[in-house]
Amino acid sequence: MKKLLFIGVMLAFVLSPKAQGFFNPEKMVETGVYYYPEAWNPDQWDRDFQKMEEMGFEFTHMAEFAWAQMEPEEGRYDFKWLDKAVELAAKHHLKVIMCTSSATPPVWLVRKYPEVLVQNSAGQMAEHGTRQQGSWSSPKYRELVTKLVAAQGKHYGANKNIWGWQIDNEPSHYGTYDFGPGAQKNFKEWLQKKYKTIAALNEAWGTAFWSGVYSDFSQIEIPNSPRLISGAASQISLVDFKRFSADECASFISMQYNTLRENITKEQFVTSNFMHIHPDVDPWRNKDLDFISYTMYPVAGYTAGVGDQGFRLGDPWRISYANDFFRPLKGMTGVMELQPGQVNWGTYNPLPYPGVIRAWLWNAFAGGLDFICSYRFRQPLFGSEQFHYGMVGTDGVTELFGGQQYSEFMKEIRTLRKIYKPKAVMPADYASRKTAVLYNPDNIWETEVQKQTYQWDEVGHITRYYSNLKSLCVPVDIVGEDRDLSSYPVVIAPAYQMVDKELVEKWRKYAENGGHLILTCRTGLKDRNGHFFEAPWADAIASLIGAKITMYDEMSAATKAKVSFNGVNYTWNVWGDILEPYFGVETWATYADQFYAGKASVVHHKVGKGTVTYIGTQTEDGKMEKEVLKKVYDESGISVNEQPEGVMVNWRDGFWVAINYSSNKVLINIPAKSKIIFGTKELGIAGVVVWQ
Ligand code: GAL
Repeated sequence: MKKLLFIGVMLAFVLSPKAQGFFNPEKMVETGVYYYPEAWNPDQWDRDFQKMEEMGFEFTHMAEFAWAQMEPEEGRYDFKWLDKAVELAAKHHLKVIMCTSSATPPVWLVRKYPEVLVQNSAGQMAEHGTRQQGSWSSPKYRELVTKLVAAQGKHYGANKNIWGWQIDNEPSHYGTYDFGPGAQKNFKEWLQKKYKTIAALNEAWGTAFWSGVYSDFSQIEIPNSPRLISGAASQISLVDFKRFSADECASFISMQYNTLRENITKEQFVTSNFMHIHPDVDPWRNKDLDFISYTMYPVAGYTAGVGDQGFRLGDPWRISYANDFFRPLKGMTGVMELQPGQVNWGTYNPLPYPGVIRAWLWNAFAGGLDFICSYRFRQPLFGSEQFHYGMVGTDGVTELFGGQQYSEFMKEIRTLRKIYKPKAVMPADYASRKTAVLYNPDNIWETEVQKQTYQWDEVGHITRYYSNLKSLCVPVDIVGEDRDLSSYPVVIAPAYQMVDKELVEKWRKYAENGGHLILTCRTGLKDRNGHFFEAPWADAIASLIGAKITMYDEMSAATKAKVSFNGVNYTWNVWGDILEPYFGVETWATYADQFYAGKASVVHHKVGKGTVTYIGTQTEDGKMEKEVLKKVYDESGISVNEQPEGVMVNWRDGFWVAINYSSNKVLINIPAKSKIIFGTKELGIAGVVVWQ
C-alpha cells in the first residue's frame, strides 16, 4: 500500500499539466477574458457572454475581487449570483476560471479583525478600500481566507463548467513589505528554524560589527531601514527578511492550494498569476501549484523599446522572458492577464502601436503557452482603473482596437489548429542552441540591498543577457540551481554573486562533460550568507574561469570608459572586473583606457570537453556581451540565427513565428521551401509572420 502511495505521489509529481489533461494539446492555445459580473447589471450578463463567444473567446475568468459579494457577512456565503454568471457563461460555451478573493478582504472583516491588515515600515496600518492589504502572516486572516476558499471549493469543486482556479491575484503587497505583529512573530520563528542557535544567527548576520550581537531570538525585530535612522542594517538580515517574506507569500498560496485540493476534483487545475519581474515575492517557491501563470503589460510608459515607436511596442524580450521564466517549472504556463489596450496606471499611458496587441498574442503563443487571458472584457465606468481599456468600450458593446486584434488572433488560431501536427519535432539547429539562464532571487535581493554602485540593476543585467540570446534566435529556459543542466549545450549564470562549493562543482562538472558555461561579472563573490570567502578575491571561481580577479571598478554614468573586443571599442561604466588570466587561458577582451588599460575583461578556456567564458564587464548597451556570446556559440560549433534589432523568432509545435518590435520595416529570412501561413517576409512595425 505504502509503495502504491509512493508511486502515486511520484506520478502526480512527474505528470506535466498537459499529461494531467487540463489542456488539450490539439487546441494549442485557448483564449479567454476577465469578467466582473458583480460590477455589471445582471440583465447584461447574457449579452456580454454572447459577445465574448461571438468574438471567439473560449473561457472567462471571475471573482478574484468579489469577497464582499461572496461573503456579505461573516460565515454567510452567497454564491447564487455567481452561479447564474457561471451558467450563462456555459450557455455561451465559455469555461470559467474561478478565483479565490484573498486579495480583497471586505470591510466587515477588517473592521472586526483589524489585525489582518499589513503594516508598512513606518508602522502605518493599511486601510480598507484597495487590495492586497491582507497580511499573509496573520493567523486570523489565514483562518478567514481558508473558510472562504473551502466554501468556494465545496460549491464549485465538482462543477463541470469550472475549468480551473486562480488563487489570489498577483500575490504581493505591490512593493510594500509587511512589518505587522504577525510578520514580526513569524520572522523570529523563521530565523529560529533556520539558524537553530542565536550564535549561528550572530555569525551569519555578522553582528560582531557595530555592537549588533543578540543574545536571544526574542530581541530580534524585522530590520527596518527607515527606522535605522543613522545607518544601514547588516545586508544579510535584510536579505533574510526578503527570503522570509517570499516564504510567507508562498505558504499563504499553498494553504489555499491545499484547501482547494481537499474540495475540488482533480480535473480542475489550480494556479496563481504572478507578475513577471517583481522580486518582492518568488513565484518559484510555489512548486506545489499545478503550474504558475503570469500577468503582462508591455506598454505602460515604462519602456523605451526599440526606435522612436518602441514605447508603443514594448521591449522585444519581455513576453518571451515571462514565457521562459514560468514555463520550465512545470513544462507549461499561461498568461492570465495580457494587456488589452491603453492602461491607466503608468506614469503616462500611450496608445499601443496599431497591431501590436495581436503581436503580443503571437509572442505568447510562440512561447509554448496553453492559454492566454486578457484583463478585461469591458472598460470600467467607475473606480480607480477607469481609463483602462477593455475588449469592448464604455457602451459595453463596441469592440475596441484591442478587442478587434484578439478576434483576429483567435480566428487565426482556429485556422492553425486545422494544420497542427501533434508530432512536430523541434528543428535540430534550433534545439542545438538551447540555453539555460540560471536564476536565484537571492542574487537580486542581495545586490539590491548592497548595490555597491547606484547604477547596479541585477534584473536589468539578467534581462540584457536574455535579450541578447533571443536576438540570436536561441530557445531559452530560465532555471534554478536544482535543475539538471546536461541537456543544455550552453548555460549562463549572470551576476551570480552568491554561491557555494557544490554549485561551483556542478558548474565545473557541467563544463568538463562538454557544456559551455558563461559566467559574468559579480559572480561567485559571496557565500549563501552573503559573506566574502576568507580567501583571495573571487577565489571560489578563479580556477573555473581560469583567471584571478585582481580588482573591480565602477564609475558614474558620465564617464564613458572603453573596453575592446575584436578590434571594436565598447563603452562601459557600471561594473568592470579586471582579470589576470592563468597560463593558457585566452583573453578575448581588454580594457582600452583607465589606468588598467590592456588588462583582461573577458577570458575563455577549455575545461574538460567543454569551455568556460567569463565576461567581466557590463557595457552600456550590452553589445559587446552579444558579440562574446556569438563567439562562444561559434567556437562551440553551434549555429545561431541573428535577427535584425527588435525581431523575435520562436518555434512552437511545428510553426515559426517572427514578430517585429522595432520601429522600422524588416525583412525576415524565411527559407524558400517554407510555407507562409500568415503575414509576409517583409514585416511592418508590429508585424507578425507565421510559417511552417
Ligand atoms: C494587473 C492586476 C489587475 C488590474 C490590471 C490593470 O496588474 O492584476 O487586477 O489591476 O493590472 O492593468
